[in-house]
Amino acid sequence: MKILSTGKYLPEKVVTNAFFEKLLDTTDEWIFSRSGIKERRTASPGETCAYMGTQAALDAIDKAGVTPADIGMVIVATTTPDTVFPSVACQVQAAIGAKNAAAFDLQAACSGFLYSLILAHQFLKSNTCQYILVIGAEKLSAITNMEDRTTAVLFGDGAGAVLVQANNDPHVRGRLLAFDLGADGTQEKILFLHNANTARANAVDLGGGAYITMSGQEVFKHAITEMAKSAQKTLAAAGLTVDDIRCVIPHQANMRIVKVLADRLKVPKEKCFTNLERYGNISAACIPVALSEAEKHYHLQPGDKILMVAFGGGVTWASAVMEW
Ligand code: COA
Repeated sequence: MKILSTGKYLPEKVVTNAFFEKLLDTTDEWIFSRSGIKERRTASPGETCAYMGTQAALDAIDKAGVTPADIGMVIVATTTPDTVFPSVACQVQAAIGAKNAAAFDLQAACSGFLYSLILAHQFLKSNTCQYILVIGAEKLSAITNMEDRTTAVLFGDGAGAVLVQANNDPHVRGRLLAFDLGADGTQEKILFLHNANTARANAVDLGGGAYITMSGQEVFKHAITEMAKSAQKTLAAAGLTVDDIRCVIPHQANMRIVKVLADRLKVPKEKCFTNLERYGNISAACIPVALSEAEKHYHLQPGDKILMVAFGGGVTWASAVMEW
């Protein structure tokens, strides 16, 4: 599997920490020192999850020079679909005119994009199709309790996309070298959508009373442990060490998590890409948006190896090493 192009879409509306200082018992100093976040983007009512996913997809398609009709599959990783069904993927498929594509959503919370990318790899490996659009799109503002200072300040909205292509030529650079997937459902209570069943039964919008509930310190501990283990496993499976890695793209939840992860992996700070200062945690959209920005930041060249690693509610985790 080769990444042909990346794309992203972030809503224009910027919500700084100063906004929360007026709304809640919190300070810019607390938010920044505990999380590394300074601002996040918030979608306006017209910016649905499907709209944001579509814009990110169009950005990736434009750059790749592939026509929508060539795309054989659209996978959208999301925890915040606008409707239970149709899926966000079907809405994106229609909006971009990918008339030959199968389409479905995948839900693995913040690990969803990597789960989807790895699944795309398996489909390409089995010659199901030639091109797959893998999108992470989230409208977390729809499920954030703005009265809860322990979660409201952390999350944002946005979408990222990658267009991947089957690469069967061993002489052509660009492949997924190794991956790891995992989950531990016994930890469901440390991060979940409160009232989700009621909201699903009563509302078209997944919001309507359902909101993120989190035990921050527990999530923090599990995130570091599982991401470090998963990344080490994947590096070993690829036969690589961190010295071979051009950059690490970690899930963008908390700068302190990224720093501890970097220490455990013994990766220099400058190799770890972060943008959470500007966007906060956009769940499944974190990694594709970061990938799209890291591509420019590190001037990624064919042969460069990147390590991606995520952790999310469920709990779930995933990592992958890609050759650019
Ligand atoms: N402003 C001010 N005070 C706040 C606050 C806020 N926004 N949010 C929480 N606090 C308070 C708490 O109420 C607590 O007060 P208390 O000591 O009087 O009870 C105090 O700050 C410390 O809270 P704690 O939860 O121990 O802080 P922390 O250092 O663990 O940081 C998180 C909190 C949420 C930033 C951190 O735990 C975290 O990032 N966890 C992982 C979250 C994550 O990754 N989620 C997504 C996973 S995909």
